[in-house]
Amino acid sequence: MTAVPAVTGTATAEANPNIALIKYWGKADAAYNLPVTGSLSLTLDTAPTRTTVTLDDTLAADELVLGGVVQAARPAERVRVFLDLVRALSGRTERARVDSVNLIPTGAGLASSASAFAALAAAASAAYGLGLDDRALSRLARRGSGSASRSVFGGIVRWYPGDDASSYAEPVPADLDLAMVVAIIDAGPKTISSTVAMNRTTATSPFYPAWAESTTAQLDEMLAALDRADFTAVGELAESNSLRMHATMAGAWPPVRYQTAASIALVDAAGELRAAGVEAYATMDAGPNVKFLCRPDDADRVAAHLATVDPGARFLSARAGRGVRLLGSSE
Ligand code: ADP
Ligand code: DP6
Ligand code: CO
Repeated sequence: MTAVPAVTGTATAEANPNIALIKYWGKADAAYNLPVTGSLSLTLDTAPTRTTVTLDDTLAADELVLGGVVQAARPAERVRVFLDLVRALSGRTERARVDSVNLIPTGAGLASSASAFAALAAAASAAYGLGLDDRALSRLARRGSGSASRSVFGGIVRWYPGDDASSYAEPVPADLDLAMVVAIIDAGPKTISSTVAMNRTTATSPFYPAWAESTTAQLDEMLAALDRADFTAVGELAESNSLRMHATMAGAWPPVRYQTAASIALVDAAGELRAAGVEAYATMDAGPNVKFLCRPDDADRVAAHLATVDPGARFLSARAGRGVRLLGSSE
């Protein structure tokens, strides 16, 4: 007698990282990953996460293999909690093996959690037979990592605050060709995760209410700037919003600081480029690496100048990329 195969469904999906121009920094509800404010990002056309989910009821527990290495502790637990949610939605009970590869460094402030949970949401929902539309997929991805709600879509994307039903992302049409030069000065993982740092900031920073208010206003200004295709205003708003986010976390207790001396030198380099007539605007996330918004024709010049400022840095040149895609599935 041949054994009944334990594998009942499998799916592979790929999603790209996104970099926020108006940042998400703070949860109104941590269990549902509902943000305090709206945010807006650019999905990149490079460095995707590719994730395969395979249902297998012979497993004692869900398994996460990341970059070929079996994960324990927090990363595995985070995936298990996410799969529990997918199982609850599907009414199914099988455990799963998750095999994932990030092309962007993990935990370095380069949005690995965004590409990771967008890819996992698409692969897991397909493997468990949930037929989700993009909006439902964005809401599901949000539960894994807030920023992942935005990587479901390509190009410029906004993510709405709200309740579980109304907090999803959607594309923002814009007549602007944007490029992003990513300066990787340290690919190592951060010592304090985005989740922990933002929760500490909302709980302890006296600047937090001002951050939330100004981010809501800057999001409206950003949408208006995109609508009139005003590249300079888009860049100025993005740089300002990033600086305000880092100022807010500096006010947390204990303070949170992701910017290093090398980061600051690169942020200054954006000002040097502008003084020389090349429009580049710096933005940073929860890590020391710096991203530069510029026009596609200027990307090589931007990277060349940055390389003189930090000869040890590695550069990625990106444009607007597409949203999550399913590469294959069988139930
Ligand atoms: P980042 O700046 O890279 O987004 P975060 O602190 O937001 O950093 O998230 C990093 C965490 O996201 C990792 O520690 C891990 O728990 C999770 N993660 C990253 N990539 C993957 C992946 N491909 N599959 C599952 N979980 C992942
Ligand atoms: C600074 O989405 O990684 O990159 O929801 O806790 O997983 P969790 O946090 P995460 O936070 C991203 C913060 C940011 C800004 C942004 O991407 O909007
Ligand atoms: Co993240």
